[in-house]
Amino acid sequence: MADLPVLENAYVKISADRIVDYGSMSNLAHHVADEIIDATDRFVFPSFVDSHTHLVFAASREEEFVMKIKGATYQDIASKGGGILNSAKKLQGLSEDELFERSLPRAKEIISTGTGVVEIKSGYGLTVDSELKMLRVAKRIGQETGLEVRTTLLGAHAVPPGMKKDDYVALIINEMIPAAASGNLADYIDVFCEQGFFTPEETEQIVIRGKQYRMKPRIHANQLHRSGGVQVGVKTGALSVDHLENIGEDEIALLKNSNTMPTALPAAAFFLGLPFPPARAMMDQGLPVAIASDFNPGSSPTGNMPLIASLACIKMKMTPQEAFNACTINTAYTLELQSSFGSITKGKIASLFITKPIPSIEYIPYAFGSNVIDKVILKGKVLS
Ligand code: NIG
Ligand code: FE
Repeated sequence: MADLPVLENAYVKISADRIVDYGSMSNLAHHVADEIIDATDRFVFPSFVDSHTHLVFAASREEEFVMKIKGATYQDIASKGGGILNSAKKLQGLSEDELFERSLPRAKEIISTGTGVVEIKSGYGLTVDSELKMLRVAKRIGQETGLEVRTTLLGAHAVPPGMKKDDYVALIINEMIPAAASGNLADYIDVFCEQGFFTPEETEQIVIRGKQYRMKPRIHANQLHRSGGVQVGVKTGALSVDHLENIGEDEIALLKNSNTMPTALPAAAFFLGLPFPPARAMMDQGLPVAIASDFNPGSSPTGNMPLIASLACIKMKMTPQEAFNACTINTAYTLELQSSFGSITKGKIASLFITKPIPSIEYIPYAFGSNVIDKVILKGKVLS
């Protein structure tokens, strides 16, 4: 992860939606192209791959932000019908078109900050119909923008009010998962494995059912407690376990003997005032680490990946090089897209961004909060 190869004075050649060549300018035989973009003094990066978002939602929740400032915890708010249930109530009342119209600006915003691939979860529907509605909206975002979208069924995000948990888990298993699969709406299955939400046993049951329908697991694990989420993730062959604010040596040892990627979501830790995941310690023990935004209205109201990289550097002691690898090739791995996105490689999809004139790549996470991106190219198309 420490190694981020950089070619100076170089070109990238794109044909249709593919990167077909790159190299030193001195090796560029003739400068014939339909369109030439001069990137003197700039950097060309592979688009960010944001492997964990909830960007389809009805409305922001800044009222809870203020409650938190005044001392309420995430659990206090959740137990008063706020949090995920608040978002679900708002989302259930919206038509699919309305939900799309509200979500599209967020997709455009993350495009402008360099994201080219995004995973979008359901989880604010909590009924079969509304969960499917969210997944269809997520897919439509992929069709109507140049973003590559992967979808995840997160029916097990919270128990809807008035329902017994066992009944809801049965609904997910017997109706929601088959319905999402028959509409080909979900690539992955996720569960919020956390005290007060879903136990490791329930998580395992839901994930096993998802796998029967070709949805591989990626799990919300160890955010608020040592919930057993990492254990169930590794046991069920999850592609990634995400959050990890509360993990210890046992979980790290398990991850080392697995193909499961630990994914830190530093903006959620920052926003909720939680401890940051021990990314440095994990990397020092030989584990890879991925980072993603967790863009959602409750714990991370941003999908700005340069800012996520800054937090990873400042709060988790990743080097800028490690941070860029963490949110490009490592996140691509968790979405099984490492052969088509996540680096500038011949044959990969041409989703790239070009920076403004900046002195170094380290400058990007250093200058936190400032917009260093000038031009975005998604699937070979230059956006204005
Ligand atoms: O990843 N932890 C669970 N889900 C989200 C928060 C959801 C919400 O508060 O709306 C997360 O942080
Ligand atoms: Fe999340």
